[in-house]
Amino acid sequence: MSTPSPHAIRTQVAIIGAGPAGLLLSQLLHLQGIESIVLESRSRDAIEGTIKAGILEQGTIDLMNAIGAGERMMKEGFVHEGIRLRFDGREERIDFPELTGGRKVMIYAQHEVIKDLVQVRLDTGADIRFEVSEVSVHELGGTRPQVRFRDRDGVLRRIDCDFIAGCDGTQGVSRPSIPAGELSIYERLYPFGWFGILCKAPPSSDELIYAHHERGFVLVSTRSPEVQRMYFQCDPTDKVENWSDDRIWAEFNARLGSRDGWKLQEGPIFHKVIVGMRSQVVEPMRYGRLFLAGDAAHVVPPTGAKGLNLAAADVRVLARALTHYYATGRTDLLDGYSDTALKRIWKAQRFSWWMTSMLHTFPGADAFQRRVQIAELDYVTGSRAAATALAENYVGLPFDGL
Ligand code: FAD
Ligand code: PHB
Repeated sequence: MSTPSPHAIRTQVAIIGAGPAGLLLSQLLHLQGIESIVLESRSRDAIEGTIKAGILEQGTIDLMNAIGAGERMMKEGFVHEGIRLRFDGREERIDFPELTGGRKVMIYAQHEVIKDLVQVRLDTGADIRFEVSEVSVHELGGTRPQVRFRDRDGVLRRIDCDFIAGCDGTQGVSRPSIPAGELSIYERLYPFGWFGILCKAPPSSDELIYAHHERGFVLVSTRSPEVQRMYFQCDPTDKVENWSDDRIWAEFNARLGSRDGWKLQEGPIFHKVIVGMRSQVVEPMRYGRLFLAGDAAHVVPPTGAKGLNLAAADVRVLARALTHYYATGRTDLLDGYSDTALKRIWKAQRFSWWMTSMLHTFPGADAFQRRVQIAELDYVTGSRAAATALAENYVGLPFDGL
């Protein structure tokens, strides 16, 4: 029996994945008059409801505004001008604008970014296909690559395109479609995870608190005046069912201690998740006409708040290279995509690894290691040069013209 030939559609760039990378890329290309189709395996409701990152770098804020997706973010996001580092019974502040010439970050949840990007794309008549399945990539080595998939209506379809952007995250099909041996993988696994909660409570602090403690790291973050996001370092194999609300609050309180009358604001917990921690980069981020961007190419531990921001930085480079190709027919920027993107990615990897190493308690760590961590925190908060190094990485390194 012969397989029925899939219905063919033509576009310039086929984008796999409607996460921040895929949606931003599609909008950046649209603004340059380049057509794309976005394929997403989950439903619109699912992608708009998945709780993930919360911090936008200045460059990501600027990008959202530049592509016309920043209106709600500017109204509802919260600008933060610093973070607090809590260690050894003290709390010290890192002041971003003061150390970086005015740069800041914004708290605006990733799923809100996704909602805004989907809306902006659909308002311009974009072709985003949700709930597709059986996505596969073909003819990557030639000039007419293809993506095959089953549409939500059950029909098998084929996209004929010039390029494929693999923006399908860590569980996607793009990266595994590259033949073994073509990619080098660089990786660090951490022997801990983060237990994340969302709760209904007022903020405990006007800025994020990154806390070092013998029992393990804690991050006090926020989403709004009514909803707080917090994490504590946990065993990555632990289960959320093992943690009652009372046990969670006891753990936070044990690690955050009470200082100068400071008190953690508690409230009903309505979301619990355990996130694994690793650092990973694949090189190169390209195979023939398939380009990888975002989590499909690299993963960072969340301590530096870089995951979403790096995805945005990748597609900025990729969109520029594709625009240059369509304007001139030249492939030099596409050929340089991986090297250009990797420079920033490795700096973000270093920063995320460094923040993670400085702030977490490693299993089996002895008093020597703890004292070195405290000395480092003391140095980072006491030396203007060291504080500047943290601040300029946290708000996002400059783009050097990109
Ligand atoms: P993704 O957001 O993963 O998007 C990929 C999209 O592709 C998804 O919508 C997926 O459904 C789709 N897809 C997958 N396979 C296919 C397929 N075969 N066909 C079609 N579509 C497909 N980063 C931080 O900086 N701070 C944090 O606090 C933080 N918390 C996180 C919590 C969790 C639970 C997770 C999973 C990640 C977290 N991250 C955090 C990382 C950050 O969210 C990611 O770096 C960011 O989402 C990367 O964007 P992306 O577009 O590359 O990939
Ligand atoms: C978050 O609010 O989810 C968040 C903030 C800072 C991080 C990681 C996560 O470093």
